[in-house]
Amino acid sequence: MLIAGNWKMNTDLPAAVALAEAVVKEVGDPGDVQVAVCPPFVSLAAVHEVVDGSPVRLGAQNMHFEEQGAYTGEVSAAMLTSVGCTYVILGHSERRQYFGETDALVNQKVKQARRHGLVPIICIGETLDQREAGEAEAVVRTQVAGALEGIDVEDPSTLVLAYEPVWAIGTGRTATPEQAQAMHAFIRGLLRERYGEATAAAIHVLYGGSMKPGNAAELLAQADVDGGLIGGASLKAADFAAIVRAA
Ligand code: 13P
Repeated sequence: MLIAGNWKMNTDLPAAVALAEAVVKEVGDPGDVQVAVCPPFVSLAAVHEVVDGSPVRLGAQNMHFEEQGAYTGEVSAAMLTSVGCTYVILGHSERRQYFGETDALVNQKVKQARRHGLVPIICIGETLDQREAGEAEAVVRTQVAGALEGIDVEDPSTLVLAYEPVWAIGTGRTATPEQAQAMHAFIRGLLRERYGEATAAAIHVLYGGSMKPGNAAELLAQADVDGGLIGGASLKAADFAAIVRAA
């Protein structure tokens, strides 16, 4: 299990440090559960100082695919590893929706992250219109194929997928455990086609979209749900820690 907090564009530097301190304290010893927080870029170094030596790992929310150079405003993979990142969230639906990120772009970022030893958390998921049109599986199939094109996985811990139905993000409207399990099983099948049974079984497939303490346990109890990518509830250390305990 992996529980990751996506803080999105929330918390200035003091607030990020305070939240990280509270998360470390509230999470305590998570046992077998892997835990990560993904603060905004400007707070990564400071949050690393807080979480370093604790079970809480650090992730970023985005990254550029080039090594370095004239890309004003962008952040490279090497910059992220230099401040202690283990993970990087890639292809979040908010980046696809507001910043025009395509599957091909996400694929370039995934490759670059893996070249630098960062574990990409690749986000996929359909919109409400797509679900209602019966296209959810086709959309997810295309996103998975696009993001993973040309990517070999030998060590299943070097890649994470996050199924985040867009209609469940920040809406309070969670997928039912049955809806989540059905799509996670579908995604597992796609991974099996690519990487074989054993590797597919061991790749973490997270659920994201209004996961909170009250619904986490039943979502996480589904056979193919291997953790959560938490937005709103990750901004409250007690709620985030409760989800970690549910895992
Ligand atoms: P919420 O938990 O706020 O719905 O956000 C989910 C998400 O987008 C995590 O990446």
